[in-house]
Amino acid sequence: MAAAVALLLFLSAQGAAPVLGFTRGDFPEDFVFGAATSAYQYEGAVAEDGRSPSIWDTFTHAGRMPDKSNGDIAADGYHKYKDDVNLVTDTNLEAYRFSISWSRLIPKGRGTVNPKGLEYYNNLIDELVRHGVQVHVMMYQLDLPQVLEDEYCGWLNPRIVEDFTAYADLCFKEFGDRVSYWTTLDEVNVAAIGSYDIGQIPPGRCSDPFGVTKCTVGNSSVEPYIAAHNMLLAHASATRLYRAKYQAVQKGVVGINIYTLWPYPLTNSTADLEATQRFRDFYLGWIVEPLVFGDYPQAVKKNVGSRLPSFTKVQSEAVRGTLDFIGINHYYSVYVNARPLAKGIRDFALDISADYRGSRTDPPIGQQAPTSIPADPKGLQLLVEYLNEAYGNLPVYIQETGYATRNGSLHDTERVDYMKNHIKSTLTALRNGANVKGYFAWCFMDVFEYLTGFKSHYGLYRVDFEDHALPRQARLSARWYSEFLRNKEIQIREENELDDAGSHAQQ
Ligand SMILES: *[C@@H]1O[C@H](CO)[C@@H](O)[C@H](O)[C@H]1NC(C)=O
Ligand SMILES: *[C@@H]1O[C@H](CO)[C@@H](O)[C@H](O)[C@H]1NC(C)=O
Ligand SMILES: *[C@@H]1O[C@H](CO)[C@@H](O)[C@H](O)[C@H]1NC(C)=O
Repeated sequence: MAAAVALLLFLSAQGAAPVLGFTRGDFPEDFVFGAATSAYQYEGAVAEDGRSPSIWDTFTHAGRMPDKSNGDIAADGYHKYKDDVNLVTDTNLEAYRFSISWSRLIPKGRGTVNPKGLEYYNNLIDELVRHGVQVHVMMYQLDLPQVLEDEYCGWLNPRIVEDFTAYADLCFKEFGDRVSYWTTLDEVNVAAIGSYDIGQIPPGRCSDPFGVTKCTVGNSSVEPYIAAHNMLLAHASATRLYRAKYQAVQKGVVGINIYTLWPYPLTNSTADLEATQRFRDFYLGWIVEPLVFGDYPQAVKKNVGSRLPSFTKVQSEAVRGTLDFIGINHYYSVYVNARPLAKGIRDFALDISADYRGSRTDPPIGQQAPTSIPADPKGLQLLVEYLNEAYGNLPVYIQETGYATRNGSLHDTERVDYMKNHIKSTLTALRNGANVKGYFAWCFMDVFEYLTGFKSHYGLYRVDFEDHALPRQARLSARWYSEFLRNKEIQIREENELDDAGSHAQQ
């Protein structure tokens, strides 16, 4: 999703080391390298073959994107998936992650299945399997069927648990013979904050003074916590269903995804060190701790108080132990210092009782992404190691990490540097004993971005959105990745040797 990533971000070049110093062969055989896309951001064909609108269609058509764009056509993956799977193969990807559009599969949110939707995902999965690509499925990348939002306010209502579980059941039943890696929900923390606190993503609810724009409906102090609570219950319910009904035969795993930032203390004062831990408890622990230990972190309970839903004994038992892995979307680090807990009305950011910024020297930011963020590969290593240490050594999949440019240049040397340094940092974590199992670049190609529409580009492949044919072109990063993954033994060359002619010309 690349949510909460800077709208206009310019990552500083990382000054690549003169020698890469590692190869694909340094990673275990069962570690997977891949890339990701998501349904609304990639597929287009929003009104085709029986798909009903999701909350993203409603939001974009109300003109709520900064560039007034929408995903009506996006990268037209619905029609181009076959060619795109060929690109997946060209790039030597070992795995591919996509998300399923709930409203394409079950247009009324529950009940009748849309045969055309089923056919599309079956075809896509078959195509990947035929090419020997491991399939990773995200069941929900923030695109709730609008009908469920209209009927009962979606994630704010516990009724969502039953509907999500039935949707997940259908996915397991129809696709589980070929899919072993399931993630229930994407960026649960950011979904709750972005949708219900700052109102930056659909359904765009908030209350003054917390929204990114004037708020008309919502309650920023309580709704994010209610939504996240229902997401946790929904995840747990779907996972328990999988374990009871499918896992023995299908032998797959089910995890959840969180948006992550690695926090460094701004100073070594006790107050800043405590604020940094509080930041981890709010951003990571809020979602992961209930699923591992059965309850919210103490720091979250203390500062949110009665606005935080509590787990009944039965719910606590139901959510505890329902993670086979933790999926993370990770882009950058922040620097954290303590601030006094605000009196009066608070939202998530104020509840943390900390200020944070993208670099040591920046002024503090609110919940919106900072505008300039140095890439910090080390933060990824520290984060993975922390997750292992804090939450029982569960496997971690890096499900999104990547680099945005505004100009969309094909010669994306900054993205190549970003990938090298983050892959290296992942290897360092592995060598330190971390249980990290996969690395997926965001994004496989340029797509409709949830925060910036078509104003920023994350793709390994460039998509020319000005051209109706939406042609794809390999960027330098696609060629670099392809070369890295092709060559398991031989140390790969530096990118200055891998010129624009690229690896393909040299094979
Ligand atoms: C939000 O909900 C809380 C708790 O129910 C309430 O005290 C507060 O007034 C509500 N705020 C708004 C803006 O409705
Ligand atoms: C805090 O202490 C650590 C460990 O001693 C040190 O590496 C780091 O540079 C210090 N940070 C600051 C901001 O002084
Ligand atoms: C595109 O932007 C990057 C920074 O993101 C810059 O380094 C590069 O020179 C730009 N390329 C072109 C062709 O403008």
